[in-house]
Amino acid sequence: MSASKDSTAATPTRYLTGITTSGTPHLGNYVGSVRHSVRFSRQEDVQSFYFLADFHALIKVDEPARIQRSTLEIAATWLACGLDPERVTFYRQSDIPEIPELSWFLTCVTGKGMLNRAHAYKAQVDKNAARGEDPDADVNAGLFMYPVLMGADILMFNAHYVPVGRDQVQHIEMARDMAQHFNHLYGEHFTLPEVALDDAVATLPGLDGRKMSKSYDNTIALFAPRAFLQKQIASIVTDSRVPGEPKDTDSSAVFQIYQAFANDDETESLRRAFADGIGWGEAKQLLFERIDQEVGPMRKHYDALLNDPAQIETTLRRGAEKARALSQPFMAELRHAVGLRNLASRDKGAAGKSAKVARPSFKQYREADGLYYFKLLDAGGKQLIQSLGFASPQEAGRAIGSLRQRGAAGLNELAGQIEAVDDETARAAAAALQSLAAETAG
Ligand code: TRP
Repeated sequence: MSASKDSTAATPTRYLTGITTSGTPHLGNYVGSVRHSVRFSRQEDVQSFYFLADFHALIKVDEPARIQRSTLEIAATWLACGLDPERVTFYRQSDIPEIPELSWFLTCVTGKGMLNRAHAYKAQVDKNAARGEDPDADVNAGLFMYPVLMGADILMFNAHYVPVGRDQVQHIEMARDMAQHFNHLYGEHFTLPEVALDDAVATLPGLDGRKMSKSYDNTIALFAPRAFLQKQIASIVTDSRVPGEPKDTDSSAVFQIYQAFANDDETESLRRAFADGIGWGEAKQLLFERIDQEVGPMRKHYDALLNDPAQIETTLRRGAEKARALSQPFMAELRHAVGLRNLASRDKGAAGKSAKVARPSFKQYREADGLYYFKLLDAGGKQLIQSLGFASPQEAGRAIGSLRQRGAAGLNELAGQIEAVDDETARAAAAALQSLAAETAG
């Protein structure tokens, strides 16, 4: 067995992020998240998870057709912008039943007081107070629980980093808190996630100069038809300076949006044009052309994808399979950890909190060779089984599943797919598998 597996690629850094399916993607989403994430997902040593947060969408959208449409549009956007579903795990939250299940586990280790302080909920409560209304007017319990569901999204896949905007930082801190609390009660199951803030990523101003956001109704659609894009850009608010008058770049949404698409030279030349008094109409035309240059080719791909929703559906289902190869065995482990167990299995510590003894565990990962591996570790973290490479995470997941279910018997069947070990280790592996299989059964 190679030492390098342990030291280098054994756990590639995992990135995970979700996108709420409540609207049509706009330029702000593209510049602030999609573009950067797609580029990032192509790096060698990272494993990324991107998902459509449709459970989250239900908190604020009660129009089924809009949820469906938005899910389609957002999926098509990511794919059109170059996300490779073979490379990353790209899935729909609601295809992973383990997520709401984990969400309940986390609900039970989360202080209500902490949720009271969550920004999104608190903002609504403060707004109500300011209007002299009942504090909980217009607050559904989904809004209150939002951070817990998000925690489940993140912890389900043991993400190391979560790339999000500043407005989401508090949610990641809360997820850490939940992970810590759960680990403290039930043993080390969760990785503590961290925020990956990228300061190079701009927040884009919208049509009215405020941050581009659905909630301000000031967005420019990413994949609107060309003519509509042009029309929207023409409606960006400017000051009243006439052609010939020098214009201020810092306060100009036109300039800032341009900068988010242009390279340094292009930006410099527009800066000079502003100083030289370029007219707003002309500046907007430059902006339109610059955006269309980048977005145009992707728009074709996007339109094709939208016209073939069945293909996107297939892609997402395949992504869900890949994700569930991880979430299913992990959830089985967590169920056992909290005491939702096969009654016929005699677990030593079943009596009480001392039960949170470490247990044998599977680790699944991808190597630099592109193949999928797993290992079985004993309760102390010592390696018992090292698999050979599998072509897909599903195959690796199935092998793990069969070991979990069939115990030591499964080991013989998989002999050709795991590295040979000495007799003592083989016995320890068989014993560990028997104990796992006992708790999985039924
Ligand atoms: N709350 C995020 C947003 O509105 C979406 C989201 C849901 C998310 N679950 C997540 C982001 C998990 C990162 C990780 O933007």
